[in-house]
Amino acid sequence: MRLPIILDTDPGIDDAAAIAAALFAPELDLQLMTTVAGNVSVEKTTRNALQLLHFWNADVPLAQGASMPLVRPLRDAASVHGESGMEGYEFVEHDRQAMVKPAFQAIRDALMHAPQPVTLVAIGPLTNIALLLTHYPECVFNIQRLVIMGGAAGRGNFTPNAEFNIAIDPEAAAKVFQSGLEIVMCGLDVTNQAMLAPEYLATLPQLNQTGKMLHALFSHYRSGSMNTGLRMHDLCAIAWLVRPELFTLQSCFVAVETQGEYTSGTTVVDIEGRLGHPTNAQVALGIDVEGFQQWVAEVLALAP
Ligand code: BDR
Ligand code: CA
Repeated sequence: MRLPIILDTDPGIDDAAAIAAALFAPELDLQLMTTVAGNVSVEKTTRNALQLLHFWNADVPLAQGASMPLVRPLRDAASVHGESGMEGYEFVEHDRQAMVKPAFQAIRDALMHAPQPVTLVAIGPLTNIALLLTHYPECVFNIQRLVIMGGAAGRGNFTPNAEFNIAIDPEAAAKVFQSGLEIVMCGLDVTNQAMLAPEYLATLPQLNQTGKMLHALFSHYRSGSMNTGLRMHDLCAIAWLVRPELFTLQSCFVAVETQGEYTSGTTVVDIEGRLGHPTNAQVALGIDVEGFQQWVAEVLALAP
């Protein structure tokens, strides 16, 4: 049986690659997509997500989520993904629309009606997930686990210590890590290593239409370079779902710093258990990079 998942995303160029994998990995059943403000505004992430669903002719409902972090102004990553959030490819016109209800409501409804627990995958700021937990705590019984791309045990990529998705909405992330949900955290400790090599990237335009489109986006993606390799942060969360054996995880207590003058948005990952708190997340600290690259090649070859 395929694993039912709900994907919360802010496309975003590496998000686009993750969405491809979520749609075409035979092990997964993508039941709902939701968008959040992050890499660019939520209007843009929603437009990008709808364009991708249309490109793949995918029958997956999409709900638009939060336009702002819980308490802070939005800071985006247009410098990494381009002004549109998915610079580099001309998508055709279509008339797809987001659902009328907001993301946290759509996730709640999907969970309450699901015949079995569903895995939530969040590859943007955690605003929608925090709103879900605040407004509908009763639906956690049907969440199998939450798998996120976010945070770091080591250095950050947005501030010296903080990773982008957590730094954009630290209050939401803190709420999520305190929720008691089973959490798998794929942070920069693994995602910075999860590179696609230049030799493979060069083959994408010949692979299929998906390869052509991703190659065009990748040419505008600034998390690495086409010549030295590109970081596929968000793809790691999907890879963990279908190839968990590629990752080394450690159960840790993770706190999110919300107060620090220079450190807010930092995930404090207590690897050595120094703080003496019960663990609340499984943190990915190691990845088999070759195995990851092989899996990416396999799954993208299944796309049209
Ligand atoms: C994360 O930040 C975003 O720019 C990427 O899409 C990814 O989710 C990496 O820090
Ligand atoms: Ca993302």
